[in-house]
Amino acid sequence: MNSYEGKTFNINTYGCQMNVHESEKIRGILLSLGMEEIDNPIDANVVVFNTCCIREGAEDRAYNNIMALKPEKAKDKNKILILCGCMPQQKKGKYNLKDKLSFVDIIIGTHNINMLAQYLLRFAMNHQPIYEIVEKPTGNMDTDLCVRDDKINAYVNIIYGCNKFCTYCIVPYVRGREKSRPFHDIYEEVKDLVQNKGYKFITLLGQNVNSYGKDLSEPMTFAELLQNLCKIEGDFKIKFMTSHPMDFGDDIIKVMKTEEKVAKALHLPVQSGSSPILKRMNRHYDVKQYMSIIKKVKHAVPNISLSTDIIVGFPGETESDFNKTLKLLKKVKYDQVFAFMYSKRSGTPAAEFEDQVDEKEKNIRVNKLLRLQKIIQKDQTKKYFKKVFNCLIKQINGVSVGITDGGKEIYIPNYKFVNENYFANVRVEDIRNHKLSGVIYGKR
Ligand code: 5AD
Ligand code: SF4
Repeated sequence: MNSYEGKTFNINTYGCQMNVHESEKIRGILLSLGMEEIDNPIDANVVVFNTCCIREGAEDRAYNNIMALKPEKAKDKNKILILCGCMPQQKKGKYNLKDKLSFVDIIIGTHNINMLAQYLLRFAMNHQPIYEIVEKPTGNMDTDLCVRDDKINAYVNIIYGCNKFCTYCIVPYVRGREKSRPFHDIYEEVKDLVQNKGYKFITLLGQNVNSYGKDLSEPMTFAELLQNLCKIEGDFKIKFMTSHPMDFGDDIIKVMKTEEKVAKALHLPVQSGSSPILKRMNRHYDVKQYMSIIKKVKHAVPNISLSTDIIVGFPGETESDFNKTLKLLKKVKYDQVFAFMYSKRSGTPAAEFEDQVDEKEKNIRVNKLLRLQKIIQKDQTKKYFKKVFNCLIKQINGVSVGITDGGKEIYIPNYKFVNENYFANVRVEDIRNHKLSGVIYGKR
């Protein structure tokens, strides 16, 4: 029995899939202390803010939401507030958290989230605020205590940290250097998720998944990792994110083509369509090299679903550079684009560049880009006609629906499925108002 038994907790997550997955581990840790999860931070005995600092907006959102709980903490001194993740890990964040958030009980970074139970137990003993930011991982970041949000798609870490140092990006400073997880650990986790827990999609996570294995005592490439995981018996598919174009070799393309279990979807951030801007971003590829990968991928996997990240208004980006990004979108025809206005991150090289783009101009450009992408996406729907996709078959509101690897829904009217969640081929027969419908076209 510990003093947390029977108490309630609430977790607030900001940022990427990595953080979402880390919050799943936090949930596991808190449940293991005998606590119960609730939706409302006002009523919860313990409130966790697992934060992000990739852009200023992410910091502002988390900060304001923590601040909103200050009166609650004043009313109930026994309420425990926890701040963790990327925001406190920064050397020079936007907010001086130690001073401004002195009412927060436990502040830790990215490298010691796995120690949360120990911090809570220590806090219960002496009620002294904890502020512990460490520079290197404390023990093993993986935990069997993870309790996932989703029942179909499971996130699995394969590599932590980043060595790339893109000039705009704070990630290498708050997540440290690349560290691959041993293959055996990943294999056992995936096997358990597929064979014992019924997961249909496994999404392998890392800031740079293609760098996997370089640092292991028995090196393994990312392509080999994929191939080895495909040997696990079961009806499931593997997705992965995020890939860096620099490390995206032909071996990965080959595995995507040949392995049925590798989802036919790829998120490959380009960031800009202008080579001089890519050079200033320290991305280690130019537009020609990026387009050559896209061409090879499309050739190897014809109906692949492609998505990307774009930064608009990077320092020095001219109208002409920006137009090259628009041109690239028209050429590649992504199924989805995540576009961000460049946000100055203190401590990164680009924050010191003198030719910063005006905020208003960034806003105009991002809206223009999103308008263009909307048109491209609508037009894209046509390419689905009469095509066959291997889909996860689900029931949504009593209707059978096939979900493609890229997440598109294909309605299958009048089809009664046998049991929930299995893969089958679906052929698109009709497109109305950009909504797809089709028929089952043989089983996988
Ligand atoms: N400003 C805007 N967007 C950024 N990203 C990373 N750093 C910044 C920044 N400083 C974007 C990149 C990356 C995605 C996760 O976030 O596009 O791929
Ligand atoms: Fe950031 Fe670049 Fe590393 Fe991605 S590859 S996490 S954008 S530094």
